[in-house]
Amino acid sequence: MTRWQKEPFAINVKIGDTKAFCACGLSKNGPYCDGSHVTTDKTPYVVKFEEDKTIYACGCQESANRPYCDGSHTKLATNS
Ligand code: FES
Repeated sequence: MTRWQKEPFAINVKIGDTKAFCACGLSKNGPYCDGSHVTTDKTPYVVKFEEDKTIYACGCQESANRPYCDGSHTKLATNS
């Protein structure tokens, strides 16, 4: 099981892969959707990849460009 963390998740994706990333912040399988959004008005970020590559998915839930990391994790306190 993947958990939220204060840094991005490096994920290798392949052409044709479709992944659903958590948008509500409640998933226990972050950064992926686990269906927990059903109690919210959020829906997951569903992305279909057009090429093989490594993506950096936000692990801190603070990115303004979710599901991708935008560097916001670098501004988080390190002692919490
Ligand atoms: S992990 Fe980088 S902005 Fe969230």
